[in-house]
Amino acid sequence: MFYPLIRKILFQFDPETVHHWTLRTIRFAGSVPPIAAILRWSYHTHSLPVQLFGITFSNPVGLAAGYDKDGIAWRGLACLGFSHVEIGTVTPLPQSGNPKPRLFRIPEGQAVINQMGFPSQGAQIVAQHLRRTRPKGLVLGVNLGKNKDTPNEEAARDYLALLEIFSPLADYLVVNVSSPNTLGLRQLQARQSLHELLSQLVAKRNSLATRQKYTPLLVKLAPDLSDSELDDALDVLTANQIDGVIATNTTVQRVGMFPRGLANHPLIDQSGGLSGAPLFSLSLRMVQEIVKRTNATLPVIGVGGIITPTQAHQMLDAGAKLIQVYTGLIYNGPAFVKKIVKSLSAC
Ligand SMILES: Cc1cc2nc3c(=O)[nH]c(=O)nc-3n(C[C@H](O)[C@H](O)[C@H](O)COP(=O)(O)O)c2cc1C
Repeated sequence: MFYPLIRKILFQFDPETVHHWTLRTIRFAGSVPPIAAILRWSYHTHSLPVQLFGITFSNPVGLAAGYDKDGIAWRGLACLGFSHVEIGTVTPLPQSGNPKPRLFRIPEGQAVINQMGFPSQGAQIVAQHLRRTRPKGLVLGVNLGKNKDTPNEEAARDYLALLEIFSPLADYLVVNVSSPNTLGLRQLQARQSLHELLSQLVAKRNSLATRQKYTPLLVKLAPDLSDSELDDALDVLTANQIDGVIATNTTVQRVGMFPRGLANHPLIDQSGGLSGAPLFSLSLRMVQEIVKRTNATLPVIGVGGIITPTQAHQMLDAGAKLIQVYTGLIYNGPAFVKKIVKSLSAC
């Protein structure tokens, strides 16, 4: 009810600074049991269970990667009604990401452009953050990326090291080859590179599974793949028996993405990944195409531009088994998950 006013105040400040304030506040709230209990009560969602990858998700809505990159606030975020929270992107070694400013809001278009470039405290520290007690029912995903200085030819080494560290800690892992802010990363989506990477990761995951537990391995794709690039990627995913796909990451496209009235907005030409309302139709189409091209055999998590409950319905109607939100949370506030789940359970 008060969020439009809070948002107005928060939007007076630098976006990344506000993000860190918010994250610290949520971390604090999640670590003080009476406050966490009040939050859980306030944002309690209907039970709308989804079975996927042998895991029960209490509802279809999760938090997309990039919000809690270092896994500092996931216990507080769980109080906002998410069935799952995806930590990361985590890189093996700590790195600072791209120079600031690197996060821009376009409120008129309910959009964000980010040029973050995987700032990460590194795998060892993030792993420590994830060893805390798990809130009941929360599914924890970890999104993996390579360090900026690792050439693509050696990327597999980074992902293999991350897989080994995080498979005992995560319910599912995501191979991120689709962020636009790490030079060359998206080339790992090409047929040959993707096959070389995924075949090694799947072999490693399977060998770990015999000693530990089976950890589902997902791949996150960009919305900017052409139809033939998407076909190539899906062939590789299917051939390697990847458990699921997350569609989509942010887009580098700008032309035709914004309504005409915003075409001259000064921030539109910032480079980086565009998320939020303008992304929705691209992501929705990508989900529809994946479902069609795989005959619905590959589970899809739909993400990109979900700003209203109606869009959440549309994404699920397109065949996504789960959905994730990020920018919608910035524009709608903490009650957004509850609002979506309420609307879904009314159907
Ligand atoms: C500031 C910001 C940082 C992000 N960082 C990551 C990241 O580290 N890894 C990743 O896979 N996706 C990242 N994303 C992409 C989101 O997970 C999501 O795929 C994308 O924003 C589309 O969803 P949305 O329109 O609901 O925001 C980031 C998005 C934003 C806005």
